[in-house]
Amino acid sequence: VLMITGATLALFIFSILYARGKYNDAPECLPFDKTYETPKVNKLDDKTYQVYAVAQMWQFQPSQIYIPVGAEVDFFLTSKDVVHGFNIAEKNVNMMAVYGNINKTTVKFDKPGVYKITCHEYCGVGHQNMQAEVIVN
Ligand code: CUA
Repeated sequence: VLMITGATLALFIFSILYARGKYNDAPECLPFDKTYETPKVNKLDDKTYQVYAVAQMWQFQPSQIYIPVGAEVDFFLTSKDVVHGFNIAEKNVNMMAVYGNINKTTVKFDKPGVYKITCHEYCGVGHQNMQAEVIVN
């Protein structure tokens, strides 16, 4: 019985490590920085941008983000109140906005278009209206 338990545990640990390796594009968690309270878009150079996104009931700021085609964007995300979701259409981005926390992910926009950002975590009566967009052209 002990051996079976041990083998099951080993398999469990292995599957966790395997999943971590496989999904290494998962959002990073960064230590919360008090200076990051205002939403903004920083242009580092022509192809590199930073978006400091702030979620709150029931909106994302900035709500319209203009990016040139081919740009790589670091998205930093936090919340001013409850937990919100942050999903970018067509980009397989799936983050949580959490108060007192910063999540980060990097997305490259190779094709022009309007990419809808939606909250996919239920956050109250205005949840379904909680949207923003990335405009790539
Ligand atoms: Cu914010 Cu749902």
